[in-house]
Amino acid sequence: MSALPDNFIREIEAVVGAVGMVCDAERMQSYLSDWRNAYRGEAALVVRPASTEEVAAVVRLCNQYDIALVPQGGNTGLCGGSIPDASGTQVVLSLTRMTGIREVDTENETITVEAGAILQAVQEAAAEVGRLFPLSLGAEGSCTVGGNLATNAGGTAVLRYGNMRDLTLGLEVVLPDGQIWNGLRGLRKDNTGYDLKHLFIGSEGTLGIITAAVLKLYPAVRSVTTAWVALPSAHAAVQLIGIIRSLCGDRLTGFELMSRQSVDFVLRHVGACSDPFSETHPWYVLIELSDTQPDAPLNELLEQGIGEALERGVVTDAVLASSEAQVAALWAMREGISEAQNHEGPSLKHDISVPVSCIPAFIQTTDQRLLDQFPGVRIVAYGHVGDGNLHYNVSKPVGSDDTAFKAQQDAIMHVIYEATTGFQGSISAEHGLGQAKRAAAKHYKDPLELALMRAIKTTLDPKGLMNPGKVL
Ligand code: FAD
Ligand code: MLT
Ligand code: ZN
Repeated sequence: MSALPDNFIREIEAVVGAVGMVCDAERMQSYLSDWRNAYRGEAALVVRPASTEEVAAVVRLCNQYDIALVPQGGNTGLCGGSIPDASGTQVVLSLTRMTGIREVDTENETITVEAGAILQAVQEAAAEVGRLFPLSLGAEGSCTVGGNLATNAGGTAVLRYGNMRDLTLGLEVVLPDGQIWNGLRGLRKDNTGYDLKHLFIGSEGTLGIITAAVLKLYPAVRSVTTAWVALPSAHAAVQLIGIIRSLCGDRLTGFELMSRQSVDFVLRHVGACSDPFSETHPWYVLIELSDTQPDAPLNELLEQGIGEALERGVVTDAVLASSEAQVAALWAMREGISEAQNHEGPSLKHDISVPVSCIPAFIQTTDQRLLDQFPGVRIVAYGHVGDGNLHYNVSKPVGSDDTAFKAQQDAIMHVIYEATTGFQGSISAEHGLGQAKRAAAKHYKDPLELALMRAIKTTLDPKGLMNPGKVL
């Protein structure tokens, strides 16, 4: 705390009280590193305001004293965006006390929630009134709506419902000078000029603090069918999604691709997971169909689609879940990949996207280049194939030295990003830039787009106090 002026600390305490401040080194630790321990920083103070007015007062004080702020939600981000730098001079502003559900409007099909609300709590609040809030991802038990908005989170249901940007109608934001922008409108149509909410969605805390949002609700799902399917190639996955989609339309809500390497890691490290097949296969997909009707013929539809794919040699084997426990077990295999990979030593995480039709060629080209240049690296490819979004992760070779692998990190990343841009793809389809991909974005993003982004940043945050060192 010595890095901060005494008056600043006194004024912050007058706003949030002792309960809203974390000052001692031990209690601060969980705010200073991410869950993988891939990023670590220091902070002068962690502030935990309990209302929008308190957030605004804290931001005004930081602006007055020129103190940099790092917004933080559930701290589940994968790019170090919520972690302060090493200087020990920054203030972490945690939204975790702002968990309120402000309004549920079933006639407007909206829910208004505070930024610190845990995603799962929002899903549950929607379910209580017979509705669905469809954003779904592995970290949903700990990530917050504010973090979901700030990273424009995607997840496993984007195929049907879109990402966080598509699920948001209005925002409340504290601007870098402490003004409160109340854009909490539940309108589906509003053409009165620039759509400002989209500036803040995906801005990773660099343009302001999101304090609340109006989110869209959907009809509750009343029947679900889940299948685990083995495939001979990644190309077969692209063919299969075409078959299933033309048969099932919008009932297709999940289509997740996994390489054998990904599944091997899960079977090795995630308790209670078991391979549904007796033989191994190079690729798998997890398919989910859902419907708002309680007795929709989803099993029949999926069996028909898979049957057609089996005849064409696109599918090698398949199993339909026959109980809720089996559905949960199949999803646990998919959602367990992140955690399982952690047990295999250092890894490089990527969340690239390419046009869906290019996924097989991307995998083939990049696998070849990586294995030629870095023999023994283990490629852990999986992801949301219907969105063209692959987690093309790389784990160190078995038995190799951690430091040697880390020294190759930039060169490996270069191979992957060159291939991605070669297919007109994006180097970050869902996790954002944070501190991890800031330098890469400088290299791979269009210079005009970067200049426009800088102009927006300078206009809204002329002192550069909002999450400095991230994104730009
Ligand atoms: P944090 O990690 O706390 O912050 C993330 C960024 O948002 C930081 O830059 C931070 O400064 C900023 N921020 C946080 N709150 C605010 C706010 N109120 N106002 C302004 N800025 C703010 N992501 C996906 O998109 N799809 C997935 O499928 C997915 N799966 C995951 C699975 C696992 C197991 C894990 C650990 C992570 C996964 N993620 C995924 C990444 C992560 O969960 C998301 O990015 C999530 O949206 C982050 O929310 P958070 O509250 O933890 O944000
Ligand atoms: C996922 O889809 O599981 C996450 O976005 C990926 C990850 O943890 O790398
Ligand atoms: Zn993902």
